[in-house]
Amino acid sequence: MRAIFCMCLLLTGVLSASNSQAASPYAGHEKAAAVCAQCHGIKSPSADAPFPSLAGWDAPYLTTALKQFRDKSRTSEIMNAIAASLSDEDINDIVSYYSHVKP
Ligand code: HEC
Repeated sequence: MRAIFCMCLLLTGVLSASNSQAASPYAGHEKAAAVCAQCHGIKSPSADAPFPSLAGWDAPYLTTALKQFRDKSRTSEIMNAIAASLSDEDINDIVSYYSHVKP
């Protein structure tokens, strides 16, 4: 009995540790501000930016778009170059940030 109890504690520990790896809108904000905001803005695009503002977009749509840019199944000279350097974690963080911002 005691052994089973210990296993459960261990498992909960492992699960909460992996939770801290979950998408973080805070990390996403930093990454977005450092990279994406130059073109897409944080809340609204800069006045002369011809690019779409991403604030409030649907998370699954953003994730798919970024992964397609990364594997080049969707082509855009600019976005292919940028997405190529994003890890899955970067994408999750950035998407969780943009999808939570009110436009
Ligand atoms: C140098 C300018 C530039 C930067 C920096 C940039 N983008 Fe883009 N982005 C563009 C352009 C231009 C397009 C339009 C591409 C197209 O669809 O042909 C675009 C399109 C997109 C789209 C698709 C929008 C749609 O209409 O479906 C997403 C999503 C996106 N960018 C996300 C990001 C994210 C996230 C970052 C930061 C990691 C980022 N972009 C950084 C210029 C930029």
